[in-house]
Amino acid sequence: MCGIVGYIGERDAAPILLDGLRRLEYRGYDSAGLAVMDRAGAVMVQRAAGKLGNLAQRVEAAHPQGDAGIGHTRWATHGPPIERNAHPHSSPDGAILVVQNGIVENFHDLRAELRAEGYVFLSDTDTEVIAHLIHRFYHNGCGGDLEWAMRCALARLHGPNAIVAMSKDQPRRLIAARLGHAGGVAAGERAGEAFLASDMPAILSHTDEIVHLESGQMAVVEPGRIRYSTLSGDAVERRPVSVAWTAAEADKGGYAFYMEKEIYEQAASLTAALRGHLDVENRRVELAALNLDAGKLAALRRVTILACGTSYYAGLIGKHYLERLAGVPVEVDYASEFRYRQPLVRSDDLAVAITQSGETADTLAAAELAKERGAATAAIVNVEGSQITRLCDGVIPMQAGPEIGVASTKAFTAALVDLLLLAIYIGQETGRLDAEQRGELIEALLALPGMAGALLDEARRSGRYARLAETFHTSRNFLYLGRGMHYAIAREGALKLKEITYIHAEGYPAGEMKHGPIALIDEEWPTVVVAPQDRVYDKMVSQVEQIKARRGKVLAVASEGDAYLAGAADYVLPIPAANEFILPILAVLPLQLFAYEIARRKGLDVDQPRNLAKSVTVE
Ligand code: F6R
Repeated sequence: MCGIVGYIGERDAAPILLDGLRRLEYRGYDSAGLAVMDRAGAVMVQRAAGKLGNLAQRVEAAHPQGDAGIGHTRWATHGPPIERNAHPHSSPDGAILVVQNGIVENFHDLRAELRAEGYVFLSDTDTEVIAHLIHRFYHNGCGGDLEWAMRCALARLHGPNAIVAMSKDQPRRLIAARLGHAGGVAAGERAGEAFLASDMPAILSHTDEIVHLESGQMAVVEPGRIRYSTLSGDAVERRPVSVAWTAAEADKGGYAFYMEKEIYEQAASLTAALRGHLDVENRRVELAALNLDAGKLAALRRVTILACGTSYYAGLIGKHYLERLAGVPVEVDYASEFRYRQPLVRSDDLAVAITQSGETADTLAAAELAKERGAATAAIVNVEGSQITRLCDGVIPMQAGPEIGVASTKAFTAALVDLLLLAIYIGQETGRLDAEQRGELIEALLALPGMAGALLDEARRSGRYARLAETFHTSRNFLYLGRGMHYAIAREGALKLKEITYIHAEGYPAGEMKHGPIALIDEEWPTVVVAPQDRVYDKMVSQVEQIKARRGKVLAVASEGDAYLAGAADYVLPIPAANEFILPILAVLPLQLFAYEIARRKGLDVDQPRNLAKSVTVE
């Protein structure tokens, strides 16, 4: 949710912190702030409500001097997004400064306790409680030792939190800590310098050797040196891992928005998703990091897919893949529901968590619960080294490269590829899917990136989606319909539209239309039908007839050359004919483009839609 950065070294800290915040702005963007400290312990704090540009202007005018500092971009949890609630927050004497990502769940009790001791609060945030607590322990009981004061303060906090603090008394040191499943803390060092950030894109231009702090760990960060320990003070050996992502991948590369870039680079991200998984000659799928042997797979009684948002919709399609190709029953659960409904889990279950970020609090908690109750666990995940990769027994990496746009696009299609690979793999290892069927699916997967690339090239050349946006950007409501696997695509298409254009859209199973939603249809209420030529195509055609009979406008995601829909629908969003398991991966592309172009036409900030954040690391 919020983004945290920290720097200590030889260079001016302010521009490095601002650059880091710019790369993390997708995590939260309702206010931002930074504190820069010089070697004598003089600190300058700058904070501003609104987008990062407001803070950048203030920093430019004030020229804070110093070669250490911390910064924060906020997604409000406690208190409105106004300047006094922006981080960093400080102790009463201004000596201890703190930035935080997470929630202090017992903040009311702690605030009352500190108030009774005379502490005064200047903000509505839970973060200020942390600054005051550290201050209290620093002066009472910890003998002016910031590290220990922080440990004592952290022991009083409930809830997931990632925190970075610094003190005027120790100007050549930052301290970071992580409690529970709050958004990550990545640390990296380079000759004479050290960096901290919630997420790798803020560090990658400085170093690709990174340590992800585990829950319950602390990092004491000095120029060129980072020391790791547990919260009780025991030293911990942490070796940096080399990250394959590059800083260039995490840039916009000439596109207006990250989302646009991420949509158009899907030929490449789909190719990358397949990397290392296909043995074409032997018509086999390899999932080495899944860590499940053939015996365990044969004994599997059920797969439970756990995810949120777009990743959940990928899971709905995964159910079709796994049930049909691997012959195993599948349940798909919202992670936020699963974790609170006392699920029945057995040791012959496999829980598959799908998460782009690997840091979504509900998904982590749901996977942890499934594991505690005896299930084998696997993560389909994009961000290398994220928490879910360490929590689950096995991993299928999306390999999609950094996804920065808040609306997920290329991670969705990569997750579908991974789910298809998983279904083929289980079918192959259990003998339920013969070599011929595997061969056909592998051929289809190999053809997929080229098909996606051709679709996207044609879309760009034709300008079709910009024209559709011109026609539909003033619509107030949309219905999205699909059936079978394309029901999930309808829901994903509707989610993309509402989150970046703020137009109300509902994704619905087409067969349920006549049980209620058809009452909505009139000339003003357009319907997007996802109706490529698959096994339920005829059923979709009758939906189109029913909508047209009520004078509704129809936009149809249809197979190229479908003469019927070309005549019956008002607008066609074409996709190529393909293997039925590949079709949903192609069918979502027009819906991503449609939402993107409408948002652009409305002049909205596509990468930073209001009220949203990329990684939802709080409940
Ligand atoms: C929508 C979107 C969200 C995420 C959801 C889960 O475009 O991006 O719905 O899919 O917050 O995030 P991850 O996959 O990181 O767990």
